[in-house]
Amino acid sequence: MSEDLQIAGGTKAEQYASLLPQIKALMEGEIDGTANLANVAAALKEQFGWFWVGFYLVRGTELVVGPFQGPVACTRIRKGRGVCGTAWEEARTLIVPDVEKFPGHIACSSLSRSEIVVPVFKGGEVVGVLDVDSAELDAFDETDREWLERVVKAIPGINS
Ligand code: SME
Repeated sequence: MSEDLQIAGGTKAEQYASLLPQIKALMEGEIDGTANLANVAAALKEQFGWFWVGFYLVRGTELVVGPFQGPVACTRIRKGRGVCGTAWEEARTLIVPDVEKFPGHIACSSLSRSEIVVPVFKGGEVVGVLDVDSAELDAFDETDREWLERVVKAIPGINS
């Protein structure tokens, strides 16, 4: 496909519906995990303009920051720590409407107000997480959960 993303308007669901096939096309035939994660983070950031979009990858007992778009971020997060480490430990998507109310939230930036973290699975194991931060409170809902889970399922490879 061409490397230009077609940015859709409309409802959030309509925007995801336009974006997901483009994300799949970007990754088609590409098995390199870093390349795919980098383009997924860039496509999500370009469509939605969120504050921070990126991946943390499981490395032993920690998550290590991977491809992302946005300001510099914490490099390592231990299992069970913060929103990302908790989503890993519990192997489920976490939506945090107000990060200040999440016990143990790791503030990489004081500008981040709400967050969604979606685990990435390989062979039934969590191998990383997709972390999206917004500068707005309560930015994420079930529509984001549904579509971001579809986005991470479409990733064919992740380096581990
Ligand atoms: N807030 C996250 C840390 C990652 S940064 O937001 C990019 C957390 O609590 O896990």
